[in-house]
Amino acid sequence: MTTDTKALQHILNNSIAYQKPEEFRYSLGDLLGHGLLFAEGHEHKRQRRIMNPAFGTMHIKEMTNVFVDKSNELRDALNLLCTPVAFPSAGPADEWVPVEVLAYLSCTTLDIIGTAGFNYSFGALKTLVSKTAKKSASRGTTTQVKQEFINHGEEDLDSDDTDEEHHDPLSSALARTIDSTNGGFTLLQLLKMYIPPFRLINFDSRSRLTRKSRVIINQIGKSIIKDRKNAIAEENESGLDKRGGAKDLLTLLIKANLAENGEGKIGDRKLSDDELMNQIPTFFLAGHETTSTSTAWTLFSLACNHAIQDKLRAELLEVSTDHPTMEQLNSLSYLDMVVRESLRYHSVVTDTVRVVTEEDVIPFEKPFEDKNGNLRSELRCVNSPIYSVSPEN
Ligand code: HEM
Repeated sequence: MTTDTKALQHILNNSIAYQKPEEFRYSLGDLLGHGLLFAEGHEHKRQRRIMNPAFGTMHIKEMTNVFVDKSNELRDALNLLCTPVAFPSAGPADEWVPVEVLAYLSCTTLDIIGTAGFNYSFGALKTLVSKTAKKSASRGTTTQVKQEFINHGEEDLDSDDTDEEHHDPLSSALARTIDSTNGGFTLLQLLKMYIPPFRLINFDSRSRLTRKSRVIINQIGKSIIKDRKNAIAEENESGLDKRGGAKDLLTLLIKANLAENGEGKIGDRKLSDDELMNQIPTFFLAGHETTSTSTAWTLFSLACNHAIQDKLRAELLEVSTDHPTMEQLNSLSYLDMVVRESLRYHSVVTDTVRVVTEEDVIPFEKPFEDKNGNLRSELRCVNSPIYSVSPEN
C-alpha cells in the first residue's frame, strides 16, 4: 500500500502495466457496463485518448453556466426552505432550521451531470423542491406560498403522483443499480467475484434487478444517443455548430466520432454506440455521488469551523455577480484552499487497487525502508496487487 505521490502518478498513468484486479473489474462491469472505469490496458488507453479532449479545461470552462445556474437554483431552494412563512416548521428567522443538505446536493449534482454529461434533464432538484412543498402544504402552508413553490418547482402539487423516489425513469434505473450495492456484498456476489463459474447464476434477486435496470438504461441511453446525433445533424445543417451548439460530454464524443468518419474505424479512433452508451452510467456514478458527498463534507467542515466559514463568506461576497465566470471562480484563492483541504481530509474515494501485469520499477518521492532496513527510492515489482491511497489518509 502506498501514499507516495510520485509512485501513485507512475501507477495510475500506466494502465497497461497496472490494471484493476479481475474481480474488481467484474463488479464494476456488472454495475456500470463496460465504460471508461471498466476498461483496462490498451482498451483503456484507446478510450482515454478519444475522451481526453472532452474533459479538457476549455470544455469544462464552457460548462461553467451549467454549474452556476444549478448552484443558484440550489441556493434559492435552500433559502426558501429557511423562510418561516414558507415553512412554518422553520420557526422565527433567528432559529435553526434543519436541512437535509445531502438530499439537495445529490439532486443538484444529478441535474448537473445530466446536463453537462449528456444534455439530459433529470429535473431532480425541482422534483425535490415540489415534494418538500407538497409535504409542507399538507401541514397547512398558505396558498400563496404553495403557489410560490409550484412556480419554483414547476410542478403541480395537487397531482396524484405519489412516487416518493425518482420521477425520472433513467435516474430511477441508475439509482436502483447503485442501491443494489448498499449493505455490502452478499455471499453469492462474493462467489461471483472470485469464482467465475458462479457468474452463470443470474436468477437471484440482485441479478434480476440489475438486468431490469440495464434494459431501461440501454433503452433510454440509445434514445439519448439518437437524439444527440439528430441534434448534431440539425446543428450542422443550420450552421449552429460553428456558433456554439450543445457542449455536453456525450455530444463532444459523438462529434469526435463523426470527425473521424472515413479515417478512423471502430476499435481505433472511434467509440461504438455501445461504448458511447456505457459512458452514461459511468459518468453518472463517477460524477454524481462523489461530488455531492464531497460538497456535503465541505459544508460540514465549514459548519464546524466558523472562523473559516466567515473568511470564506467574505471572499465570496467580494464577487459582485451571481453568474461568475470560471476565471472569477479560479481567482478565489481561499475557496480553492477550502475545496482542496476538504477533498484531502474527507476523501470520498479513499483508495483504489491495481495489479502489476508486467515487470516494472516504481519510483518514489520519499525513500522508504525495506525489510532489511535499507533506504530505497524505487520498488521493483512482479505481478502483485498494489493498493494506492490518497495522501494523508
Ligand atoms: C469529488 C469528486 C470526485 C472524486 C473524489 C473522484 C475520484 C476519482 C478517482 C479516485 C478515480 C480513479 C479510480 C481508479 O482508477 O481506481 C476517478 C476516476 C474517474 N472519474 Fe472521478 N472523481 C470525482 C468527480 C468526477 C466527475 C465530476 C466526473 C465526471 C464525469 C468523473 C469521472 C471520472 C471518470 C470517467 C473516471 C475514470 C478515469 C479513467 O479510468 O481513466 N469524476 N475519479
